[in-house]
Amino acid sequence: MKEQLVTSALNKPDGDFELPLRPTRFSEFVGQQKVKERLQLSVEAARGREDVLDHVLLSGPPGLGKTTLAHILADEMGVNIKVTSGPVVDKPGTLAGLLTNLERGEVLFIDEIHRLQKAVEEYLYSAMEDFVIDIVIDQGPQARSVRLNLPKFTLIGATTRSGLIAAPLRSRFGTTNRLDYYEAPDLVSIIKRSARILDVDIDEGGAEEIAGRSRGTPRIVNKLLRWVRDYAQVKAGNKIDRDTADKALGMLEIDGYGLDEMDKRILNAIMQTFSGGPVGLGSLAVAVGEEADTIEEVYEPYLIQEGYLMRTAQGRTVTQLCYDRFKVKPAGREGELL
Ligand SMILES: Nc1ncnc2c1ncn2[C@@H]1O[C@H](COP(=O)(O)OP(=O)(O)O)[C@@H](O)[C@H]1O
Ligand SMILES: [Mg+2]
Repeated sequence: MKEQLVTSALNKPDGDFELPLRPTRFSEFVGQQKVKERLQLSVEAARGREDVLDHVLLSGPPGLGKTTLAHILADEMGVNIKVTSGPVVDKPGTLAGLLTNLERGEVLFIDEIHRLQKAVEEYLYSAMEDFVIDIVIDQGPQARSVRLNLPKFTLIGATTRSGLIAAPLRSRFGTTNRLDYYEAPDLVSIIKRSARILDVDIDEGGAEEIAGRSRGTPRIVNKLLRWVRDYAQVKAGNKIDRDTADKALGMLEIDGYGLDEMDKRILNAIMQTFSGGPVGLGSLAVAVGEEADTIEEVYEPYLIQEGYLMRTAQGRTVTQLCYDRFKVKPAGREGELL
C-alpha cells in the first residue's frame, strides 16, 4: 500500500513549487500537438482582428497542463488572467462580482468548472453568449431584475470530468480541447527542460527511466525529477543516469509502470472480485469506492491506453497483459476449456 499511496500523492498540485517549471509560452509547451495548434490559431486570429479570444474549454486528467495552457493563452494574448474555481463561485452574486470586475479582453479562468452549481452555471450562459448578466436585487414584491453589461471577455474552463459539462455550457465554448497522456519522448523533453531550469545534470537514460514511471503525466515527471535530484546530490555526485534514477525511484517504492493506487485497485477488483470481468461501471465503482464518472474519465483512459483494461458492450474486462504484469492467474480458465 505504501508504494501506491506515494504515487497517488505525486499527482496533487503543490502550488509554488510548480511555478518555476511551468511553461509560459506555447513554444515551451511540449506535446499535445493538435490542441496546441488549434489554440495557437485561435490566438493568432483573435490578435490579427484585435478581437477578444473566444471561450476555451480544456479537459483531461489531472497534471496534464490545463492550468498551464490557460495561463499561456492569457500571456500570448497579452491580457490579465483572473483565476477561480467551481466550488469557490458558490452563488450568482460571486460570479457577478468576478465578471463585472473584468476589463475588455481579460481572461476569467474557472478551474473544475464541472463543480459549478446549476444556479450559477445558468448565469454564465448569457454572460458567455451576450456579455450581459441579469441579477435580481431586493426580495419579495420589490424584487426586480437588473441587467448589467459586461466587457467582452474570455472564459477558460478546465475540467477533469468533461462528461459532467452540460450541453448548454459546452456549446458556448468556441473550442473544446481534450488533453491526453504524454508519450515517452514528450515526457523526456519535459524532463530535460525541467532539469535545465533546476540546473541538474541528467543523461538520456536517466530521463527515460523517470519518464517510464510517470503515468504519462508532466506533473508527476517534475515531482519525480526533484526527488531524483535530491538523491543524486546526496548519493551520486549530482549526476543522474539510468542507474541513479532507478535507485532513487526504488527508494520511493515506485514501480516500473507508473500505476497509482487507484489504478491498481481498479485492476485488482476486476481480476479478483469480478473474475476478470466483464463488470459494469457501477459495480466497479462501488467495489473500489470511487465515483463512476471519475473512474471513467480520470483512471480508465490511462489503463486503456497502456493496454491493461478494455471497455466492451458487456462492461469492463482486463487483458492478458494485466494478468501477466500482476502475476495473477486468470480465473475460470480451466472451466472454459471444458
Ligand atoms: N506540455 C507541458 N510541457 C511542460 N511542462 C508541462 C506541460 N504540461 C504540464 N507541465 C508541467 O506540469 C505541471 C502540472 O500542469 P498543470 O497545468 O497544473 O496541470 P492540470 O491543470 O491539468 O492539472 C505544471 O506545473 C508544468 O510544470
Ligand atoms: Mg490545474
